[in-house]
Amino acid sequence: MKVLEADFVQGFIRMCSDGWERGWHERNGGNLSYRLKAEEVTEIEDDLNEDGQWQPIGADVPGLANEFFLVTGSGKYFRNVSLAPEDCLALIELDPAGAHYRLRWGLKNGGRPTSELPSHLMNHEVKKAASGGRHRVIYHAHPTNVIALTFVLPLTDEVFTRELWEMATECPVVFPDGIGVVGWMVPGGRDIAVATSKLMEKYDVAVWAHHGMFCSGEDFDLTFGLMHTVEKSAEILVKTLSMRPDKRQTISPQNFRDLAADFGVKLPERFLYEK
Ligand code: 13P
Ligand code: ZN
Repeated sequence: MKVLEADFVQGFIRMCSDGWERGWHERNGGNLSYRLKAEEVTEIEDDLNEDGQWQPIGADVPGLANEFFLVTGSGKYFRNVSLAPEDCLALIELDPAGAHYRLRWGLKNGGRPTSELPSHLMNHEVKKAASGGRHRVIYHAHPTNVIALTFVLPLTDEVFTRELWEMATECPVVFPDGIGVVGWMVPGGRDIAVATSKLMEKYDVAVWAHHGMFCSGEDFDLTFGLMHTVEKSAEILVKTLSMRPDKRQTISPQNFRDLAADFGVKLPERFLYEK
């Protein structure tokens, strides 16, 4: 089968278009990666090339040895992915040490995988282990309202989680483990990848102050839906804070406990502090 005919490739392209339409991907902002299933590699094997040179990843991910990933290219625009997928996307294979990758398909006009490849792969390694292999998608976007909040809220996991939970009743059900926050760091390297993947041991969402957000999930729907839910909640908070600095009423810690009992989720008590 041709790479472009595979369902996971079509799902990947659709997610890029959906993110672009939501306004989360100005210019080349954001990146997406998907860890292929063994049967998906077999499906497209005939359409892969062998001449890519092994390149250093910039991080060691032995837990992902020999795995294949579909990733967005560095400097490529999400806006263009559906029009020119073979130019904008890269299908890469990792070596047996998880230290190098080589291109097997895509980037037909040259280029390299996203500059955030170390963060994507370190997050994949952590989430693969934590989810028993179920998580396959890592998504980085630049959603406006979450970024705006990083200028006015204290940069702690507790405050971001609690404030965003309060903005929509569905939030604690969609991200019951909470949200992690990374203070401002230089993007694109190993240090920010280490800080983010540490948070991904506990959470499915990590906010990068003054930059954007990372989400992890099992498939494209769940991961896009997670980004969308968090950003929608942030939009409500931005609107609320713009109308008045305090809330007249909100969802209380006891309301959250009642919700958790009814919906069968565990909400860590450290997010249910008295204000
Ligand atoms: P890339 O174009 O290299 O993917 O970088 C975009 C980005 O959002 C960096 O954080
Ligand atoms: Zn970014």
